[in-house]
Amino acid sequence: MPPGPKHLRVAAIMSTSPVHVVIFGASGDLTKRKLIPALASLAAKGLLPEGTEVVGVARREKDEAAFRAELRDALPPALHDGFDALAPRLHYQRGDVAVAEDVAALKARLDALPGGAGAGRLHYLSLAPRLFAPAVEALCDGGLLDRTAPRDGGAFRRVVVEKPFGTDLASARSLNDALTNHIREDQLFRIDHYLGKETVQNLLGFRFHNAIFEPLWNRHHVELVQITVAEDLGVEGGRGAYYDQAGALRDMLQNHMLQILALVAMEPPSTLAAEDVRGQKVAALSALVAPDLVGAREQVVRGQYDAGTLRGENVIGYLDEDGVPAHSTTETYVAVRAELDSWRWTGVPFLLRHGKRLPAKFTEVQIQFRTPPLQLFNKPEGVDDGALRRAVRDGSLCQIRPNVLTLSIQPREAISLSFGVKRPGAQMVMSPAHLDFDYAEHFSEASPPAYERLLLDAMLGDATLFLRGDEIEASWRFADALSSSFAHAEGPPLRRYAAGSWGPETAGALFYGCEGGWTRGPG
Ligand code: BG6
Repeated sequence: MPPGPKHLRVAAIMSTSPVHVVIFGASGDLTKRKLIPALASLAAKGLLPEGTEVVGVARREKDEAAFRAELRDALPPALHDGFDALAPRLHYQRGDVAVAEDVAALKARLDALPGGAGAGRLHYLSLAPRLFAPAVEALCDGGLLDRTAPRDGGAFRRVVVEKPFGTDLASARSLNDALTNHIREDQLFRIDHYLGKETVQNLLGFRFHNAIFEPLWNRHHVELVQITVAEDLGVEGGRGAYYDQAGALRDMLQNHMLQILALVAMEPPSTLAAEDVRGQKVAALSALVAPDLVGAREQVVRGQYDAGTLRGENVIGYLDEDGVPAHSTTETYVAVRAELDSWRWTGVPFLLRHGKRLPAKFTEVQIQFRTPPLQLFNKPEGVDDGALRRAVRDGSLCQIRPNVLTLSIQPREAISLSFGVKRPGAQMVMSPAHLDFDYAEHFSEASPPAYERLLLDAMLGDATLFLRGDEIEASWRFADALSSSFAHAEGPPLRRYAAGSWGPETAGALFYGCEGGWTRGPG
């Protein structure tokens, strides 16, 4: 079902038959921090499909009242009313998906809920990734999942899986195969929570609703694209062991950042149907050039943070974080000058950067437009015409880049276009100016958290904001080229940077000549 105007979506929600949302791994952090808040908020807004029942499944014995109380306590007070509306429909079932009797008991429990076996079922696997395939197999064996289940409405059977989806192309492929051995691709909803962010979705809206930008959105007018996902956090909170296996490349670049890139680079879809949108994203991701070893050395910078100072506080280095081996060579920073072999983008660098323990948290896309053919204004004083020509030609003097479109994804949700205007006065001097749009100033309602939209879409069967199997494989193909270069002695060396700095200084050299440099964010 394509996303549509709000009243159509609400009508669709109301006409959906009952849905059982089954959360496997219900005692985990994700349930508490993201899933229950999203469901409580949907309940508060009246957006949960009628007859929704939520069942948390985990291995521990737990009293249902205690389960509800724990979840309520973890919520901000603003969500308590929503939670209270949901609570009578929130259940707990002790069970291990690997144990056939537990699956049978779960089935009996679900069949006895309102809607019974005729309800749609959304199985949310908030489990360790190695359990995705065995869980799906066990649910099929136990009669809870079925590849012949209806596609839409009625007694649908769907599965949501969290990231990471594989650790490289080969493992992602075999996971895709293992899952689609049991269920159809359209029953599989692979989450990337960045796609649930309002401003990430707006990349599609902004590009394809506004006719004025699209003619400029190509190699003829765009000089470079810059995508930054900066984080001030380190790897605290017991994530050290996981993170050390993943690193910045697998944790952020392969998924969230390449999703943003795909939305910026894709061709227009012919409709907003999931297959049209995702097909174009796959094409964009497939056009990414996987660098060879020499290419990786020249076009990739990776780093790891040492102790440093962040907003006046001393913070420890990565190697001292809990769960991180003392001699780890895992990168916490990665910057790439990527290229796309496509009619639209060839020759335009996509500069991607992500790091932990940078000075600020922000996600931003910048589209830098080419300079005007002649720089008529703001010529340096005292330089004659010939000298100016030579300086511009040899790159010792850069022409001004007046036009940059900045799409701020978070925390500020905004769009800004820079351009030059004549400074008042007798002389013809151009000054930089901006056109600014800010979500918070413009709209009275706040952007809903990512999981709210994603859970609702999964219940409604709209897969647009979920990753298709071939999409994941296309991103791993690119990420694998980088990670194999990291493992190679001739690959990009691991640079050190101080926590609270902007990362390894060498990353500046990924911008060539007069292209400029990395953004420092909203400041
Ligand atoms: C997760 C990563 O997928 O995204 C984390 O595993 C990262 O390391 C997080 O911090 C960032 O998400 P957000 O929504 O806070 O930008």
